[in-house]
Amino acid sequence: MEKVIIEAKNLVKTYGEGEGLMYALNNVSINVYEHDFLVILGGSGSGKSTFLNMIGAIDKVDSGEILVNGDDIVKYNDKQLTLYRRNTVGFVYQFFNLINDITVYQNVVLAPGSRDKEKALALLDRVGLKDKKDKFPRQLSGGQQQRVAIARALNKQSDILLCDEPTGALDDASGKAVLKLIEDIHNEGKTIVLVTHTREIAGMANRIITMKDGQVIKEEFNDHVIKAEEVVW
Ligand SMILES: Nc1ncnc2c1ncn2[C@@H]1O[C@H](COP(=O)(O)OP(=O)(O)OP(=O)(O)O)[C@@H](O)[C@H]1O
Ligand SMILES: [Mg+2]
Repeated sequence: MEKVIIEAKNLVKTYGEGEGLMYALNNVSINVYEHDFLVILGGSGSGKSTFLNMIGAIDKVDSGEILVNGDDIVKYNDKQLTLYRRNTVGFVYQFFNLINDITVYQNVVLAPGSRDKEKALALLDRVGLKDKKDKFPRQLSGGQQQRVAIARALNKQSDILLCDEPTGALDDASGKAVLKLIEDIHNEGKTIVLVTHTREIAGMANRIITMKDGQVIKEEFNDHVIKAEEVVW
């Protein structure tokens, strides 16, 4: 049995109050195992991003526990949360979230927890963008910007990569290139949690969890993992 690295238990997150109260997460429990490629599937509004933001410590739950390597991050103070975001999780977003007024290279080298110039350049080389290092994000295509965001996420020591609809804003070819990178990163030993509403992408995962209306409605194990290049959507 693989080691559990994230154990989310009974997570509740509500928005609004009174008649407007809604449960973005309604008692969600999900385990992430070491070296998992976990895909969380679900339609718009099902709670996928909310869940990812909770385990990434971008937002706070109303109640529940999030044990990461045995430590409950829900109880962390601000300083501990900053360290957690810096050292434990990398994030890749649908709309890249690059800093627009600094260069591609600066976006990567300024990743929290790293100032290693050689590593930043090596990562840009790896995502095929070394020649764009002095460009600004707006001078790059969406697919290129997402590859910069992946280089930035990899420029941390973290073992876990959280991806929120990483191909959502990309065309097929760019999306595939991004999926291929994520596949390689997984094969090198990182744990991947990827949120998407695209069923075909879930074929790359060894585990698939489906959410609906803030709840987990299905958990599957995938015995026929496909390669990024085989994903059709
Ligand atoms: N800041 C917020 N204020 C109020 N409601 C919110 C907020 N963030 C999320 N919600 C609500 O919580 C529910 C879950 O949202 P979430 O973003 O997690 O969905 P999702 O599964 O990621 O959807 P999508 O596929 O469209 O990204 C939605 O109904 C959404 O409207
Ligand atoms: Mg979302």
